[in-house]
Amino acid sequence: MSDYDALITAAKQARENAYAPFSNFRVGAAVRAKSGRIHTGCNVENATLGLTCCAERVAIFKAVSEGERGFDAIAVVTDVDRLTPPCGACRQIIWEFCGDVPVVLANLKGKVEEETAGKLLARPFDSSFL
Ligand code: THU
Repeated sequence: MSDYDALITAAKQARENAYAPFSNFRVGAAVRAKSGRIHTGCNVENATLGLTCCAERVAIFKAVSEGERGFDAIAVVTDVDRLTPPCGACRQIIWEFCGDVPVVLANLKGKVEEETAGKLLARPFDSSFL
């Protein structure tokens, strides 16, 4: 039982709600607050395509909108053998709200890989530059 089992399970459940009729690429994400609470999200697509929002950002924005601050890990689950890393926009949002946290990538077959937000987003722009 890893530290991330509950996070991965929550991301898998969130993936069930993915609205992905255009790509059929279903993604679930779960972010763990320092309070211990887990917040989830799935990808939500749109016929305009450009307005699609990734699972990671949905999870983080949901959590932040509910007043949560400070996160210590995020998980991303898809149903592919080559595990799915967050896109560039999501990396920036992860950095903003989570900092250099573990980013746990998993699939439905139980494959798990761990990265760090800092490694995924080299030389990030953040409020320290303002
Ligand atoms: N997607 C995510 O939700 N998260 C990722 O990390 C990669 C991509 C979504 C966006 C879109 O709905 C679909 O996957 C295909 O790009």
